[in-house]
Formats: sequence, structure tokens, C-alpha cells
Amino acid sequence: MQFIPYGKQWVTTEDINSVAEVLKSDFLTTGPKVKEFEEAVADYCGAKYAVAVCNGTAALHLASIALLNSGDKVLTTPNSFLATSNAILYAGAHPIFIDIQENGNIDLDLCEEALKSDPSIKAIYAVHFSGNPVEQEKLAHIKKRYGTTILEDCAHSIGAEYQGIKAGSCTHSEASIFSFHPVKHMTTGEGGMITTNDETLYEKLKILRNHGMVKTPEMKPWEYEMKILGFNYRITDIQCALGLSQLKKLEGFIERRRELAQNYDKAFKNHPVIRPLYFYNGNSSYHLYVLRINFNVLNITKEELFVKMKTKNIGLQLHYIPINRQPYYRTLGYGNENIPQMDRYFEESFSIPLFPLLTDLEQEYIIENLLKVVEQ
Ligand SMILES: Cc1ncc(COP(=O)(O)O)c(C=O)c1O
Repeated sequence: MQFIPYGKQWVTTEDINSVAEVLKSDFLTTGPKVKEFEEAVADYCGAKYAVAVCNGTAALHLASIALLNSGDKVLTTPNSFLATSNAILYAGAHPIFIDIQENGNIDLDLCEEALKSDPSIKAIYAVHFSGNPVEQEKLAHIKKRYGTTILEDCAHSIGAEYQGIKAGSCTHSEASIFSFHPVKHMTTGEGGMITTNDETLYEKLKILRNHGMVKTPEMKPWEYEMKILGFNYRITDIQCALGLSQLKKLEGFIERRRELAQNYDKAFKNHPVIRPLYFYNGNSSYHLYVLRINFNVLNITKEELFVKMKTKNIGLQLHYIPINRQPYYRTLGYGNENIPQMDRYFEESFSIPLFPLLTDLEQEYIIENLLKVVEQ
């Protein structure tokens, strides 16, 4: 069996042809494909506006600069990739790490408690972890009651839906961000997107993406003005052509991910020690399939499990190490938060391969080997 990673892209001849078309055209950087891709993603998510950028981290950075001020306090989850809370730091703001629920998402009830005891808290950065959206009615309540700014990190959750609310529609948030890294549902190589329903924010994000520079029809032909301090976070037409082509297949990709998730559910349903993070959840677009094991009752450690599975050519991954315990965060005074759910989750959890190209045969091989290693 060839090595099976925890996630990977599915690029077809159709995708390659779309990219080749752009390579033969006049526009390699910002051309018509960027706008076309933005409109297609905004339309897919049900948001008014979208701004495409060079990766998901850049999307978080720009959204943070636009939404936050230096010194702002922002509630966020320790269970995410570093980029989510790093973006808060980029804006000179202070992340506050809130414990997670059983399903790996930030606990919005604890967020409300924090908001009650400190009304100066400005924002919540919520991640729809593994593709499973946080409770939208709680976001709505918090927004209404406390006026909290909300950013949804949808890097795991394109295509997910919670009670008719599509991830990225920004129904109860100022902005949402996406990543199109190859392990995600659809890819542009590297790539990211911000969606919003706020026209002023949309205009600001477009300027921030391109050095803070403005050029209007009234200006002289050579003229441009720098209005704010921006960046070169542009995405290319080459990447957006790939994104447009991938978007056409997204529903099929998600369908296959859900099918594979249900197969895994079935395999681990009655197991005495292995349990899925959550059993089948139609809201989730299943970026990840996470399992939990209380390793204290086993003869092997998590490290040994990772090593043994690797010798079988099966890649496991851990999503995630609590961000607040990272060495850099410790230098900032973080690391001693009381987050018991996250600590237990970190001890127990690991992700097994899930991507639409995974065959039934490969999935059976993964299940068989995992059961063997755990039961030995
Ligand atoms: C939850 C989350 N947010 C943000 C990012 C950053 O996206 P990118 O890798 O495109 O910069 C990632 C990427 O792994 C992620 O998983």
C-alpha cells in the first residue's frame, strides 16, 4: 500500500486545462479570474462580497487589521491552527483562550460568561472545527446582547450548513475566512478568501490586499494614492482558475467525505475504546475525521500509535496542540489557562485520513490496521 496521508487534493485534467488556459492568456496575476472566483465563492456561501487573497493566513491578517484595534481583547479557541490567534496578535490585539466543547468547537457559553464579566472584550474568533459549524443561534444572541464583533474561521468548513445558514454567509458575523490549501476541501495551491456583507469592510479589504493603494478614474493616468498601510496579499489568475474549476466539484467532494465519515462511524460504533469526535452530523462538511482514545486504558501510547501506523504507510495527524501552550505564546504570558476539555481532547485525539480520493479499499485498510494496533 502506498503512503496514505491524512488529507490531500484531487486535481483533474479539467482543472489542469483551466489553469493552462490562463497561462496562455494576458493575465497571470490579477485579471478577470480573480473577480470571477470571488463572485462564485460569495454566491456559493450566500455572502454579498468576497475578497480573494494569497492564503488563509493573509485573509485572517487583513480581516483582523480591518476589524480590530491595537489592545482589543478577542476570545478565541486553543483548538485551531496557529494562524487563527496569530492574526489577533498581528493586529496588536490580545487573544483570550476559551475552553472547547466535546465536539472540539469553542464553548460559546463560556464566551458569554467572559463577556458578562468583562464588557470591554471586543470580538470572538470562532473556528468551525473539522467542518462542524458552531451554534449560529448563540452567535446571534451574543452579537445582539453584547455587540461583539464576530469573525468565523471557515478554513475547515466550506459547504457546511447550520440550520440553513451556510458557512461563510456571515449571517451573524462581520467576516468569514477560507483557506484553499491542498488539504482543505478545494484548492488553489495556496489561497484564501474573506467573505462579508459589509460594503465598507469589503472596500477596505481590497485596498489592504494591494499596498493600501487607490486609483480612481478622476486621477491622472500615472497617479495612485496610498491611503493606508497595506500588503501584497494578491492571489493570481492562475490560482483562481484552479479554484473556479475545483468549486464546480465541491459538492461531490463533500458528498464523498460524508460517505467516508459514515463508513468510519460504522467501523468504530461499538468499539470499547475508540470513539469518533462526533457521530454522523449532516451539518459538517467533514474536513477532518477525528478519533478519541483514552490511552490510559491501552498498552500503547499515542506516539507509539502514530509510529506503528506510519510503518503501515498510514498518516495520522493531531489537530491541534493547544495554541496557548506553544513556546512563543508562553513568552507572552499564556500557557496556564484553565481549559480542562482542551487538555483532555489534546491527550486523546488524532485525525485519520479523510479526502475524496480515498478509496473504499484504502479506507478498509486503515480501519483494519488501526483496530489491530489498538487491540494488540
Ligand atoms: C483553522 C485554520 N485557520 C487558518 C488557516 C490558515 O490557512 P492557510 O494555510 O491557507 O494560510 C488554517 C490552515 O491550516 C486553518 O486550519
